Amino acid sequence: MKAAKNYIIFPLDVPSVKEAKKYIELLSDHVGMFKVGLELFISSGPEIIRHIKDCGSTRVFLDLKLHDIPETVFRAMESIAKLGVAFATVHCAESKEMLEAAVAGSKGKVGVLGVTVLTSVSDKDLLAAGFRPEFTSDLSALVIKRASIAKKAGCAGVVCSGLEVAMIKKNFGKDFIAITPGIRPDWDDLVKDDQQRITTPAMAIKNGSDYLVIGRPIRDANNPEEAVIRITEEIEAVL
Ligand code: C5P
Repeated sequence: MKAAKNYIIFPLDVPSVKEAKKYIELLSDHVGMFKVGLELFISSGPEIIRHIKDCGSTRVFLDLKLHDIPETVFRAMESIAKLGVAFATVHCAESKEMLEAAVAGSKGKVGVLGVTVLTSVSDKDLLAAGFRPEFTSDLSALVIKRASIAKKAGCAGVVCSGLEVAMIKKNFGKDFIAITPGIRPDWDDLVKDDQQRITTPAMAIKNGSDYLVIGRPIRDANNPEEAVIRITEEIEAVL
């Protein structure tokens, strides 16, 4: 069975390599993967990925959420495939062709994940964006539709909220990976932020999530190490 800490992906949402190194040192033994997103990749480039890999066994998730014409996505994913990361993301919102291009570019060296509907998006946002009532009245229908396109395009899995993961597993099988951000422990006293479709770590695990992206509840805790240990215990209790 996968150890509880290996369910945790910590996003290095910090502005510099120096800051990132602080969290890598502090959390390497406590999480299964570090996620590098736009903020850090723009400031550090591939150097930070090499650094994480040199530090030990923690894997890397490169979360650039590609969204462009298929040719550009294909070529970007070819470059990503050379970095030795475990997962990389592409938006599902555009076309099956874009997702197929991402999968082709990965050359089987990276798990390509489709971002279904960001966990910061609510049904009201979909309404304002002009989506049809079948989606604005049930946002999870859009998540499923996009996940089905990702599955057909050959993606390894999707990013969705912990509220939708059980449905993803039911429709697409347990091997189709579901990574869930929008995790908020119920003891966390963060002021309300941009995340809308949230679950606790325990709920996400019970619903079948393969990995939990947990950022601010750890990064902004008074003691990040204590916070991650508390979350690991919560995961252990429901495994
Ligand atoms: O836990 P917290 O809200 O701080 O996590 C934020 C991280 O989750 C960011 O790195 C963001 O890019 C990522 N995220 C994601 N997919 C979503 C929502 C957030 O990868 N649907």
